[in-house]
Amino acid sequence: MIDPTARCPEWLIDRILNSGGSISFYKYMDLVLNDPENGFYSTGKLKIGKDGDFCTSPSLSNDFARLLAIQVIDWLLDLEKSGVDYELFSLIEIGPGEGTLSRDLIMAIAETAPDLTNKIELILVELNVGMRRRQEKVVNSLKGINCRWSNIEDLILSPVTGVIIANEVLDAFPVERLVFSDNKVFRQGVSLNKTNDEYFLEFVDLKPTSEIINFLNESNSLLKIEFPPKHICNRWVTEWHCDVPSWLGKLSKVLINGSLLIVDYAMESKRYYNAMRKEGTLISYRNQKANSNVLKDAGFCDLTAHLCIESTINYALTNGWKFMGETRQGQALLALGLSNFLYSLQNTSSNDLSAALNRRESLLRLVDPMGLGDFRWLAFQKDNSDDLILGKRFLEEPVS
Ligand SMILES: C[S@@+](CC[C@H](N)C(=O)[O-])C[C@H]1O[C@@H](n2cnc3c(N)ncnc32)[C@H](O)[C@@H]1O
Repeated sequence: MIDPTARCPEWLIDRILNSGGSISFYKYMDLVLNDPENGFYSTGKLKIGKDGDFCTSPSLSNDFARLLAIQVIDWLLDLEKSGVDYELFSLIEIGPGEGTLSRDLIMAIAETAPDLTNKIELILVELNVGMRRRQEKVVNSLKGINCRWSNIEDLILSPVTGVIIANEVLDAFPVERLVFSDNKVFRQGVSLNKTNDEYFLEFVDLKPTSEIINFLNESNSLLKIEFPPKHICNRWVTEWHCDVPSWLGKLSKVLINGSLLIVDYAMESKRYYNAMRKEGTLISYRNQKANSNVLKDAGFCDLTAHLCIESTINYALTNGWKFMGETRQGQALLALGLSNFLYSLQNTSSNDLSAALNRRESLLRLVDPMGLGDFRWLAFQKDNSDDLILGKRFLEEPVS
């Protein structure tokens, strides 16, 4: 039966027909998000923020950046104290979206640790031209700061020392979808259904690749993850973030000394690869509405899938990173002093009441355990000596 909301756009019909009538879900996700002429991110159609398609922590207000800056400053000062070689510290943001986090981090560092500002260069790594155009407008307003866009391959050629931030980027990486049905495993694909001269998208089961089989075997032998879990119904679907291992491998070559902070939708393997989660974690967003139908409005929605925490840590460890620790965003932000920001609102004058209420709402959203507060912060360290000790303030007891 066709899904009338899964109408296939013209450009995608050609791509699928040219690929023999079906493509992998991985390819589908990559095309609808990142195809240079039609993807939701690459064309810059997607908007992040309260008036856009979805909110991220930095899009709510600059408080997220001001709190994160406390940890970033600690790390940069730790690097300086340790005596590592550097010309400029690099603050690298991967997938900067609207560019607000980069801008607000630099502004917060300039306010709290002005002496650091002229020792930092800001590097933005953005895959999609449409997003980069918007970042340029936001970040170029910063005065007196070295700032450039680059890509991971070029950075590997001249490695740096500093801090890398990836906030809500990995969830937008294309994933393989794996289907378990009738005691067999399949790679999920997307194909066309032509009805009344119109093309609609539909799922098909494809043969699994050797990479998928390796992933299943290794997850089982190294992490004791069972695929499929016991007691699944006759069909169970999940995801594999297949680009994360090579991404972590390449990033470890970018950094000589420093830290990497991944902030994203993530959960433990027990919750992720659970019989109850029979459609995986994949979801689409448009105009602030979440939808589990990921074939609907192709090229006009964001698609996002959670990370598996143990797999991500394992990929990092096998790619040259040391694991510093992991916690929920709510805990991390409270440890960095979010409650002080809330208390300071008590001194608001009656003229500023409406702005104060908005700020209070944004602060509470950042720690909401049913929303952004449930995001995970995973930190890793890269060093070329065992003497480098980077602080972990985000893992400490909450500041009150
Ligand atoms: C969900 S947005 C997050 C934006 C921002 N970090 C924030 O928190 O508001 C994902 C961003 O990552 C970019 N992106 C996606 N894949 C990427 C990749 N492989 N390398 C760099 N950027 C990527 C997208 O174009 C977009 O700018």
